[in-house]
Amino acid sequence: MSISVVYWSGTGNTQAMAEAVAEGIRGAGAEAAVMEVSDADAAALAGENAFALGCPSMGAEQLEESEMEPFVEALEPLVSGKAVLLFGSYGWGDGEWMRDWAERMKNAGAVLVREEGVIANETPDEEALEECRAAGRELAGKA
Ligand SMILES: Cc1cc2nc3c(=O)[nH]c(=O)nc-3n(C[C@H](O)[C@H](O)[C@H](O)COP(=O)(O)O)c2cc1C
Repeated sequence: MSISVVYWSGTGNTQAMAEAVAEGIRGAGAEAAVMEVSDADAAALAGENAFALGCPSMGAEQLEESEMEPFVEALEPLVSGKAVLLFGSYGWGDGEWMRDWAERMKNAGAVLVREEGVIANETPDEEALEECRAAGRELAGKA
């Protein structure tokens, strides 16, 4: 079964992280399906044991409000016991959006592959991409 990597990205930074997460999943011998959140279905995603979600810090330390926020809201009642990897890029903040998102998913019962998600400042550098790949490999081990 393939592991979905669902993301929203305005300028490509979180998308690059999504591709690296998928590389890690594939490196572990599993299949990965990378898709934009506009192409994803929350109920179908919740049918998977393990998946990854990516979104940059938007608004004021928030998830992107028109697509990602409603998607996450729809997922919340469905994620109990699921292995979930959160990732995303940020700019001038300190990662507050990710701390809030991780807390929210843990409260919904998700088992996070990285306690505080994987974050990258603006364009992910090689170190950040490697962290995405490593987390993707770990996620594949929990599927
Ligand atoms: C409308 C808007 C709001 C943003 N709000 C924040 C913020 O609250 N905190 C922060 O650290 N970065 C913020 N950023 C910066 C983005 O998180 C950062 O540029 C990120 O790399 C964008 O990722 P993407 O290329 O995947 O869209 C904001 C950017 C935009 C366009």
